[in-house]
Amino acid sequence: MSSPIRSKITGMGLNVPKKVLTNHDLEKMVETSDEWITTRTGIKERRIADDGVSSSDLALPAALEALEDAGVRPSELDLIICATSTPDRMFPTTACILQRELKAAQCGAFDLLAACSGFVYGLTTADSFIRAGSAKNILVVGSEVLNHLIDWTNRDTCVLFGDGAGAAVLSAVEGESGIIDSRIHANGEYSDFLMVGTGSANPIKQDTFENKDHYVKMKGNQTFKVAVNTMSDVTREILEKHGITPDDIDLIVPHQANIRILNAVGKNLGVSEDKVFINVRKYGNTSAATIPIALYEARAEGRIKDGDLVLLVAFGGGFTWGATLIRW
Ligand SMILES: CC(C)(COP(=O)(O)OP(=O)(O)OC[C@H]1O[C@@H](n2cnc3c(N)ncnc32)[C@H](O)[C@@H]1OP(=O)(O)O)[C@@H](O)C(=O)NCCC(=O)NCCS
Repeated sequence: MSSPIRSKITGMGLNVPKKVLTNHDLEKMVETSDEWITTRTGIKERRIADDGVSSSDLALPAALEALEDAGVRPSELDLIICATSTPDRMFPTTACILQRELKAAQCGAFDLLAACSGFVYGLTTADSFIRAGSAKNILVVGSEVLNHLIDWTNRDTCVLFGDGAGAAVLSAVEGESGIIDSRIHANGEYSDFLMVGTGSANPIKQDTFENKDHYVKMKGNQTFKVAVNTMSDVTREILEKHGITPDDIDLIVPHQANIRILNAVGKNLGVSEDKVFINVRKYGNTSAATIPIALYEARAEGRIKDGDLVLLVAFGGGFTWGATLIRW
């Protein structure tokens, strides 16, 4: 009997802007300090895209690197999913621009908006296509140019976010390695805890602009608590479903929003700190891009080996949250 088809991450790519904005730079912009930002968030610096650089511009080099790493030609792609809260435009989608720039097959291409959970939602969707037999190779990208959504005079939010992109190619394989399972969740009751308030319900007009509704607004404290609880709960949920204990996990690669959130999740789950990959120090919160960037760096640093059990866990505006369990 042949083994079941699984989706395996066969290639990864990374692209972050060159421009670095440090906490000391922010001290000159708002009333804050390196000490406050470091102790409250773990962030030291973040990358900022130059004016005129869009999410597809950041995504393209990451996508090309992931395809080359996977040994998959753009013409062999069956689907392109771009997880982003900062698309180039409302439409055409960033995924369509990527399809054009990659000279990919005329495969399906769509943007996926689940805020910071976008990459895990994207992997979950791609995995379903592959398991159903309707795709063999799928490009999943997380790409964000968040700096235009940030009010750079508001210290509550401007210290937290950054720009960047990461990409993964998922391919259909037989055998034990690949995505074991994913769980995704949402609760719109929390919608006003973390939002960018403009859209069809609140179109950009003079008053919405003056009210800064087009910028990220957040209830930091409340968001923090829900993030810790939901990321802990969804991890327990997926592990219990598969009879796995936290000890069995070789590496957790979580959404990088705040080091204190990650430490609290680790403590809740009883996992040692060395099993949680953290790079928020260098990039801040790049929303849908944090997990593919972190996964890329974890592999590059030798923190993930063939056969390892890796858990991705995300949380974001909506609220949305989810986890993906992978046998590498
Ligand atoms: C935003 C966050 C870092 C704030 O940390 P906190 O410990 O909750 O701090 P508080 O909100 O209680 O604020 C404490 C004080 O610091 C001040 N403060 C806020 N931002 C500041 C900054 N950048 N620099 C200096 N002081 C700041 C506040 O005004 C407040 O002052 P007050 O006590 O005089 O009113 C934290 O709540 C957080 O990380 N939340 C989750 C955010 C997140 O990850 N969102 C994305 C999820 S995908």
